[in-house]
Amino acid sequence: MNISFAAPSVPASGALVVGVLEGGKLTSSANNLNKLTGGAVERAIAASTFSGKRAELLEIVAPAGLENSRILLVGMAAPAKLSEKDLQDIGGGIAGHLLRVGEEKAAILIDNLRGGKNAAERAANSAYGALLRSYRFAKYKTKDKAEKKPKLKEIKFLLEEAAAARRAYQRLEKVAEGVFLTRDLVSEPANVLYPKSLVAEAKKLTKLGIKVQALGEKEMAKLGMGSLLGVGQGSARESQLLVMVWQGAPSAKDKAPLAFVGKGVTFDTGGISLKPAAGMEDMKWDMGGAGTVVGLMKALAGRKAKVNAVGVCGLVENMPSSNAQRPGDVVTSMSGQTIEVLNTDAEGRLVLADALWYTQEKFKPKLIVDLATLTGAIIISLGHENAGLFSNDDKLSDQLTAAGKEVGEHVWRLPLSAEYDKLIDCEIADMKNISGGRAGGSITAAQFLQRFIKNGTPWAHLDIAGTAWSSKEKPTIPKGGTGYGVRLLDSFVAKNHEK
Ligand code: BES
Ligand code: MN
Ligand code: ZN
Repeated sequence: MNISFAAPSVPASGALVVGVLEGGKLTSSANNLNKLTGGAVERAIAASTFSGKRAELLEIVAPAGLENSRILLVGMAAPAKLSEKDLQDIGGGIAGHLLRVGEEKAAILIDNLRGGKNAAERAANSAYGALLRSYRFAKYKTKDKAEKKPKLKEIKFLLEEAAAARRAYQRLEKVAEGVFLTRDLVSEPANVLYPKSLVAEAKKLTKLGIKVQALGEKEMAKLGMGSLLGVGQGSARESQLLVMVWQGAPSAKDKAPLAFVGKGVTFDTGGISLKPAAGMEDMKWDMGGAGTVVGLMKALAGRKAKVNAVGVCGLVENMPSSNAQRPGDVVTSMSGQTIEVLNTDAEGRLVLADALWYTQEKFKPKLIVDLATLTGAIIISLGHENAGLFSNDDKLSDQLTAAGKEVGEHVWRLPLSAEYDKLIDCEIADMKNISGGRAGGSITAAQFLQRFIKNGTPWAHLDIAGTAWSSKEKPTIPKGGTGYGVRLLDSFVAKNHEK
């Protein structure tokens, strides 16, 4: 879909989209269309329950007096109160509607309103929301009937400050490109996306100036990554450690980077502790943490973020086979700590243990945020509206929470403590990979990860098992891979680490 910005006009074809304020009060563009249609706008409002509430829509099809296909009235409530996120949701709602009704092109008339964001900011954020909503993973649909294919080709935003809107949008578009990459990776099936093919996708980011490197099994064995390698040993696909480096900090090439670490289990059968068949297909997106880290790196490099950042992803496939690791096996992690693997389905923490340790040894980062579809228990705790946040650092935790609110990718902090930590103490090794009970499953998983964080490294863990995939549409998110975390962390970086 093509999104553009131009000077105000009233195009003679396609859909016309105009704002209506609280109480059904017409903006000047809506008023103008009302006149051109002999009062159809006012009559339509009077004949409906539409009252200009935030993101509310009312459509007038084939309006008399105009050649246009439709007029779409959009509730702007009280513009002074609209946040960037509200405006993105409004743009997403408009695009969703236009896609549903089979519209081909639309012009959105942006008025100068008093209070709140200016016209350029409103246009840019609505455009961003519309773009995010227009995403579709359709590469395997070879027989879609013409009427099922999205027809929407073009949305034009018409306003005086078109140039300013375009500038603001260009930055947001780069973030959307990161989100789309994450959605693509998460949606891709596991016969296509496996550790080496995911690395190949990430290597495409070199053209944005990211250094991309991957360690294979031999190199990881040399480093002593027995924990990660144990998970992948049952698979015919070779495990990989993906390392991406973006150096955007001005004049301080050696400045300690921010580190983002992702769980990249390209398929999680559970291994010998095999998962039940029902719903196992969902485990193609068990690389969601890695997908987010790759998408985030693309967003940061795409918008030339003034920050040094590294992305490290542990990529493995968790399969049962004659080479697979067994329940009861003891592995030695890169940190030197030993782990009794009591359940081969608690594999994400085993992968992250070595990825986290490697990241600290190699990069001495300023802080680490890891992302992982780590536990089913987090879905029981928080559903699909919040990711679980665990952290050893209140400031980092607060900054992530604030960024999440701002972009609408919410996090909810859960506790860590010595009492929970004790639950993974082990008879025969330094720790076991499950607590043995179901109580506090997301917390004990996080405690496990914390055993691989060095003293003094600010660290946050985001359990995104409930948020990486959505089975219902949201204003800026179609069904499927959500790209959760890219916008959150992009905003976290921009707000706290680019000054
Ligand atoms: N990848 C799963 C967690 C998961 C479940 C993600 C559902 C998305 C949706 C993880 O590897 C796993 O299997 N966790 C186990 C841990 C248990 C064995 C302690 C779980 O949550 O059941
Ligand atoms: Mn598992
Ligand atoms: Zn898993």
